[in-house]
Amino acid sequence: MSTEVTSRQPEAVREAFEQEFGRFARFRGEGRAVALSELRLADAEAALRELAELRTRHAGKKSALANLKKQIGRVAPEERAAFGQRVQQTEAEIAASLDEAEAALRSHAARARVELERLDVTLPGRRPRRGHLHPITLVRRRLEDIFVSMGYAVEDGPEIETDFYNFTALNIPPDHPACSVQDTFYTTEGFALRSQTSTVQIHAMQRRKPPLRVIAPGRVFRRDTPDATHNPMFFQLEGLLVDRNVTMAHLKGTVTEFLSRMFGAGTRTRFRPSYFPFTEPSAEFDFSCFKCGGTGRLAGEPCRLCKGGGWIELGGSGMVHPNVLRAVGIDPEEFSGFAFGFGIDRMCALLYSLDDIRLLFENDVRFLEQFN
Ligand code: DAH
Repeated sequence: MSTEVTSRQPEAVREAFEQEFGRFARFRGEGRAVALSELRLADAEAALRELAELRTRHAGKKSALANLKKQIGRVAPEERAAFGQRVQQTEAEIAASLDEAEAALRSHAARARVELERLDVTLPGRRPRRGHLHPITLVRRRLEDIFVSMGYAVEDGPEIETDFYNFTALNIPPDHPACSVQDTFYTTEGFALRSQTSTVQIHAMQRRKPPLRVIAPGRVFRRDTPDATHNPMFFQLEGLLVDRNVTMAHLKGTVTEFLSRMFGAGTRTRFRPSYFPFTEPSAEFDFSCFKCGGTGRLAGEPCRLCKGGGWIELGGSGMVHPNVLRAVGIDPEEFSGFAFGFGIDRMCALLYSLDDIRLLFENDVRFLEQFN
């Protein structure tokens, strides 16, 4: 082997290595920290894989360097020691470059991994925003709880009705003003949007045989112009009890009991004669104002809630009309019953001191959030 060729070979091997190693050179020496700081974990991992390939190619068993080592024995004896030394030095330099870059990349990747998985347990948690119930739903649930505890079942009925359920079966004659389009919404097919939950009385009595006790909370619709106390859609709760020997005293006892559970133990009730087609006799009921305790005065002033009268008007009631019982095939000689109905939104407005019930239907979260 010629001296010239062998003498240049270690240089050539190192140059070839350095050319490829060039892009990893920034990960060793002084500038290392800056170069690494810009390297994301995935990039560091990719660089480590490339570096491993580089090591195989330039320092592995089939590398030019390995070849060079095999040639040491074939070099002329007088040059062998010097040549061997240069090969060794080349090998050491290549290994040092590879090792240094690899070590730097490895420790950077390890730190980046920890950083990525770090969890600061002292940070306040990110709570999911929880929804809450609408104030009308809150009141409806309270009412349901009270009546269920008194043995009533909660009934549901359609919001779109035929005239039979909305009027006829409830003993409302066809010429009654409530039937007119001025009060009731009609669909183009002539169905009525129910204008009262009393319709559910009929469904309930068709579904169940007496004795029965049901309440029916639900939406009703009337052609009203919205104002502070009216909305074309609102909520009512209907109550119906049918049994043998039911009297007006049962009605008064039931209504008084439920109102004292709702507004406090001292609550009194008052029944005023009235007229509803589906009850006979009929009565509207009031309860003693829960703000002023029924005295009509609060801190020397007239009570603002009951306007100084001491009573709050709530709903209608009465003994179920025999015609209503007959409409569903119940013998009025054998059974009698009482019924009552009132507005849930109105009760909601009273309980939460709302001066405009339209607030309940505007779906403004700033308002609704107050009823958590
Ligand atoms: N349905 C009546 C209304 O909307 C309220 C009512 C009155 C319901 C008397 C009844 C009742 O069950 O017996 O004004």
